[in-house]
Amino acid sequence: MSVGVVVLAAGKGTRMKTGKAKVLHEACGLTLLEWALRASESADPDETSVVVGYQGTEVAAALPDGVASVVQEPQNGTGHAAQVGLRGFTRVHDIVVVLPGDMPLIRPETISSLVASHTESGAAATILTVDLDDPFGYGRVIVEADSVKGIVEERDATPEQRTISEVCTSVYVFDGALLAGGLERIGTDNDQGEQYLTDVIAVLVGDGHTVRSFGTDQEEGFGVNSQGQLAEAASVLRGRINSDLLESGVWMLDPARVYIDASVVVASGIEIYPDTYLTGSTRIEARACIGPGVQIHDSTVGEGTTVRNAVLNGATVGADASVGPFAYLRPGAVLADGAKAGTYVEIKNSEIGEGSKVPHLSYIGDATIGRDTNIGAATVTVNYDGYTKHRTTIGDRVKIGSDTMLVAPVAIGDDASTGAGSVITEDVPEGALGVERNRQQNIPDYADKRRRRAEEESD
Ligand code: UD1
Ligand code: CA
Repeated sequence: MSVGVVVLAAGKGTRMKTGKAKVLHEACGLTLLEWALRASESADPDETSVVVGYQGTEVAAALPDGVASVVQEPQNGTGHAAQVGLRGFTRVHDIVVVLPGDMPLIRPETISSLVASHTESGAAATILTVDLDDPFGYGRVIVEADSVKGIVEERDATPEQRTISEVCTSVYVFDGALLAGGLERIGTDNDQGEQYLTDVIAVLVGDGHTVRSFGTDQEEGFGVNSQGQLAEAASVLRGRINSDLLESGVWMLDPARVYIDASVVVASGIEIYPDTYLTGSTRIEARACIGPGVQIHDSTVGEGTTVRNAVLNGATVGADASVGPFAYLRPGAVLADGAKAGTYVEIKNSEIGEGSKVPHLSYIGDATIGRDTNIGAATVTVNYDGYTKHRTTIGDRVKIGSDTMLVAPVAIGDDASTGAGSVITEDVPEGALGVERNRQQNIPDYADKRRRRAEEESD
């Protein structure tokens, strides 16, 4: 059985008020279109065709490989859109799944159950429907003697039809050939003068075919047309992501304050405190403790590592390491197992070796630090001379004194030290102490001398 998927995504979404195509808006790290494609993958499609229109170039560019896009111009209704969508296929499929690009709450399991029910029943079409307390604005499913007769839009419905609570979600499974034939025969005799996909149902029924409806829960029929609805959908998706994680053995102090993208991989047995944002291609390994107040984007955090009040972007942190509170790890920051980036520490494009520590108030950029090295408080790798960036290399078991300026390019050998407050511009050999500062001079009784001088001046 060959399967085609058509995603309807040509609409503008004027009510979003962003000037961006509606389907390109994101919820939990995926665009609405990506949510639709994700759900439709459960139908195991041979081909997928996305109907684009408003900002078609941008929408088409956002599609994954192997998904075709077809431009619908002008946008003459959902029936017209489906017809255009079929042109994206190289052949007529046994079944065609049609779904809108703006309903991110449809579950993959629902699409696969819908397809299974359709194939088992041998119907010409199966409509995914929901029962709404307030069906206003939706297409009502007309059922007579237990069989579907058609769908009538709100604006074309009689007062009696408007009392029907079973509505069309705009998700369907069709027999591929019957859909193509039916679309040729729908008219534009409706309030909007458009070709309605919903009208194909009555055409099929008129030809003596059976159409069935397949009900799902209200929530899945939720469409996004405004920022308010986008936020609502994102909140539902976030709730689903978090409950799956809780189910898998993740501990959260307050799930309502944890924001995890669909793309993030989180191992079981981790702990998450409030105000944690995990986004992009982030991966958190077992037993890690994250938050409160943490943003992690495109980064990896190893087993048993603690990250508190920190921002990580493009960083890799090993196992049993410690980050924060108040640390900033930027792209290319790599902390090996047991390493530490402490309070008010910024690290960029640098490797911190196993067991090495940068505990307080430091900037480490473009550096390579060996193992079991300690970087004293307020150390800075002076990596930029105003023209180019230079590297600092620090060996194993090194003790960098507090407030050392390491003026790159510079290298500190294994087991070496630097004196506190030194501006190190030359390499320090293995085992040596590099110190650069004036000898201290103590002026005795300075306080008394000053006081006397002040008294003389005021006389
Ligand atoms: C449609 C259904 C209605 C159903 C509702 C569910 C029709 C006529 N009505 O109404 O029965 O209850 O969805 O949400 O089908 N699109 C295009 N090209 C077009 C028109 C629309 O690609 O020319 C796309 C839109 O971008 C959107 C989807 O089709 O993703 C649905 O279109 P929309 O205008 O929102 O249909 P509704 O009026 O909501
Ligand atoms: Ca709609």
